[in-house]
Amino acid sequence: NEKGPLAGKKVIVTAGGTVERIDPVRYISNDSSGKMGFAIARAARAMGAEVTLIAARTDEAPPQDPEISLIRVESAQSMLEAVTSRWDDCDILIKAAAVADYRPMHSADSKIKKSGDTMTLELVKTTDILETLGKMKDSQFLVGFAAETGNAEFYAKDKLVRKNLDLIVANDVSSEGAGFGTDTNIVSIYDAGGLVLDLPLSSKDEVARRLLSLAAERISGVAL
Ligand code: PMT
Repeated sequence: NEKGPLAGKKVIVTAGGTVERIDPVRYISNDSSGKMGFAIARAARAMGAEVTLIAARTDEAPPQDPEISLIRVESAQSMLEAVTSRWDDCDILIKAAAVADYRPMHSADSKIKKSGDTMTLELVKTTDILETLGKMKDSQFLVGFAAETGNAEFYAKDKLVRKNLDLIVANDVSSEGAGFGTDTNIVSIYDAGGLVLDLPLSSKDEVARRLLSLAAERISGVAL
């Protein structure tokens, strides 16, 4: 679709949950299935964009579309490197991935043996990818997600400002039919001026289309 509203635009989407290794057979991750990010990648392609999908661990298989370039990563650090190395050549970046905030301080080279009755795992903060990109931002349109279990609006607005985003998609992941693993989502989209779009229970495909139409409108200055 070379005539779509995103024709000629380069869109990077992140999906899935990062994997932070404890040892070669154990890790810390989260429940992200990849569905939200995959829906955004498919919708961006359908709207004519050149799409790069950077996916961490997912339950679903990524879209089998030769027109979508797929890059698999594992940890927050490898996602950071994959995203920042492509940042100069990007018009819109959408971070639907669930990125670990902390990783094990030490990742053992061989399987950790069972020993004492208790074991302490020391964690250190990962680099916040969106915050890093927000600081590097030039002409790119930067969209974050906020998965919250309460006060979604408050925390989403705080993330929008702190990470210098153009839009943030807040999903209250404690609501039925929203968030991790489901085929549907319930989201509110904010910009620096406040609420832009409230989407009641909708398929992730529909959320993806509405979000991308909004981004396309904002970067072209034309209402679609
Ligand atoms: O994959 P699904 O099963 O379809 O589920 C979809 C989803 C619930 C994962 C998705 O809709 C979603 O909300 N993704 C963001 C999850 C998340 O990490 O939210 P957060 O509030 O912890 O982080 C806020 C934003 O900062 C996110 O865009 C995240 O990608 C980003 N982040 C977080 C930590 C970090 N170190 N670097 C980041 O860039």
